Amino acid sequence: MYFELTEEQKLVRQVARDFAQTKLKPGVIERDENQLFPAEQVKMLGELGFLGIMVSPEYGGSGMDAISYVLIMEELSKIDASASVVVSVNNSLVCYGLEKYGTFQQKEKFLVPLAQGEQIGAFCLSEPDAGYDATALRTTAIDMGDHYLLNGVKNWITNGNSASVYLVIAQTDATRKHKGINALIVEKGMEGFTVGAKENKMGIRGSDTHSLHFSDVKVPKENRIGEDGSGFKFAMEVLEGGRIGIAAQALGIASGAYEVALNYTKQRRAFGKALADLQATQFKLADMATEIEAARLLCFKAAWLKDNGLPFAQASSMAKLYASEVAMRTTVEAVQLHGGYGFVKEYHVERLMRDAKITQIYEGTSEIQRIVISREVLK
Ligand code: CAA
Repeated sequence: MYFELTEEQKLVRQVARDFAQTKLKPGVIERDENQLFPAEQVKMLGELGFLGIMVSPEYGGSGMDAISYVLIMEELSKIDASASVVVSVNNSLVCYGLEKYGTFQQKEKFLVPLAQGEQIGAFCLSEPDAGYDATALRTTAIDMGDHYLLNGVKNWITNGNSASVYLVIAQTDATRKHKGINALIVEKGMEGFTVGAKENKMGIRGSDTHSLHFSDVKVPKENRIGEDGSGFKFAMEVLEGGRIGIAAQALGIASGAYEVALNYTKQRRAFGKALADLQATQFKLADMATEIEAARLLCFKAAWLKDNGLPFAQASSMAKLYASEVAMRTTVEAVQLHGGYGFVKEYHVERLMRDAKITQIYEGTSEIQRIVISREVLK
């Protein structure tokens, strides 16, 4: 066991912390209120190399490890989870999948601009009738020889409008069930592809979540990722890594709310004392700090396994399950510690509480994580 971060990891954490304070914090309340995508901030994140954190420099990435990814995600999410979800999806669901399974031509054409932040990617699995049960896809990609004919609707797509590159998971041969599914690269502007309505969400309101519509979209064969029929495994594998990103996002939402509450309770006075001098407050802070540290260690463990080429499905599901529940508990307590101030926007904790909820839902609900974990422990 070696619990110390390297100098590079400490440095990257500091860069992410400074960026969050100076570039994400200003305007975060207004972006949330008006559902504004943080386009300017995402551009700067690209310039910092945070949209291709783990991608090899050969393909325009930063070549960092998954531990650094966790550190960056935590720092950004303390302040703005709407911006950090862009980082998470682009890195783990899109860039990782393309780097691991894409052809050289696909990497040159799509991965390089995505890793450099010149373009943003989206991962399109969920449908109106297929969320938990990812094999029940109704979107079809019929094999027409030199291309696939794509038809269907995708729902809840993060970066739905801001993306240029979409990894779409679709059914080619329903008789083969999950072995008949393919992952296709769809570009914005392809004929028959339209972006649907934007969702009006409870949290991460700056992130643009849309439905997508495909009507006889001709996707060239060279845009298929991996072998014919490998799309379901591809989706499951990228989600394994994605869950580390969302776990770290949940961790950041929790630690962000905790830090705000800690400062507030030191300053706010009641009954002649600072709130932090009351044992009822101290016990709440102690529980928050302990749970956050446990969530952080689960994130690091999953990232460390990934960095070392070891199986990490169980670890990433445990990290996401636990960190997202800690995010909910911590943010609710942070609002409570603020009393009436916690209920108004200026104090940030009400937004963090609303943002926390999605971490128990996307990239596999807490119930899905329990399925993955229980299958592993019962093996
Ligand atoms: N890696 C590689 N292969 C895997 C895998 C993994 N992690 N998990 C499963 N597979 C393979 C299995 O080995 C099996 O292959 P074989 O038949 O060759 O053995 C195949 O996939 C089918 O596996 P299962 O029988 O386990 O499949 P299942 O139907 O029981 O489903 C599940 C498993 C875990 C419930 C899965 O459906 C799942 O994870 N569902 C949730 C989907 C999800 O996370 N959606 C989130 C949407 S994306 C999102 O939110 C992004 C965003 O915008 C933020």
